[in-house]
Amino acid sequence: MMQQKLILKINYLIFLLFFFSAIQAAEGGPCKDYGECDKFKYSLNDIESLQRGASTYINYCYGCHSLKYSRWGRVAKDLQIPEDIFFENLVFDNSIKPGDLMVGAMPSESADWFGVMPPDLTLVSRYKGDDWIYSYLRAYYEDSSKQYGVNNLVYPGTAMPNVLLTLQGNQKLVCKDIPIIASNGGEQRDNNGDTVYKEKCGFLEVEEGTGELSKKEFDNLIYDLTNFLVYVGEPIKATRERIGWYVVFYFLIFTALSLLLYREFHKDYNS
Ligand code: HEC
Repeated sequence: MMQQKLILKINYLIFLLFFFSAIQAAEGGPCKDYGECDKFKYSLNDIESLQRGASTYINYCYGCHSLKYSRWGRVAKDLQIPEDIFFENLVFDNSIKPGDLMVGAMPSESADWFGVMPPDLTLVSRYKGDDWIYSYLRAYYEDSSKQYGVNNLVYPGTAMPNVLLTLQGNQKLVCKDIPIIASNGGEQRDNNGDTVYKEKCGFLEVEEGTGELSKKEFDNLIYDLTNFLVYVGEPIKATRERIGWYVVFYFLIFTALSLLLYREFHKDYNS
């Protein structure tokens, strides 16, 4: 009897869990007006990507966003940048030492500039997710009704200006004629056999020639930047994942050995 009641209770809990996750899913994804976030696959063993990301971060983001849980020296070491080169090129304040935390360059009273204090980004990849960051930084578009003349599809009404605008160029929301998909999965055609188009809006498009980088170069820049933020969020991640493989490997070998031993012992019973 007791057991039956317990099973009923567990069933009830599982039902509740499903119910609430269904409600969450119905609320719309984390990337809001952007739709599905673009997928991001980090590569923490690509040291050059992390180095480029760090450089972009310090040049374009560090002025507003601290990384107060990491230290300069640790980043230089993990990214395999000799300390003298690192300090000469990426640290703009002579009083900073390798053991110092990266507390940011912005005085705290400057929150008034934006109405919101730019948050510390050490852990942003952990609480927002890398997909979100990768999409967010590429989803700014021109919107003259906003304070900085830009808005963002992933974070509508964000208080952060598009700091990479000169690199990316003027991105706008445009409308496009796209083919209507018929119920059989193919393009719908009219009686003359021509494809039927319908205007759809909300596509992001960069005005040609307004940015210093091509779309591909800009995407790569954001890739490296996001990769760096994933690293900063958990500097030990690459090592942890490597050790994980060793452990799996160890268990495989160990299982094989114990299987052999088991067979060896059983020979005594069978004879
Ligand atoms: C001029 C100051 C400024 C600069 C420079 C800046 N940001 Fe921001 N950023 C902000 C502000 C302000 C917010 C808060 C926006 C809000 O909540 O509306 C923010 C928010 C963010 C967020 C969302 C964090 C969260 O918890 O919601 C991310 C991610 C981010 N910035 C990344 C970057 C990156 C990467 C760069 C460099 C390319 C950068 N920012 C440069 C001011 C800045």
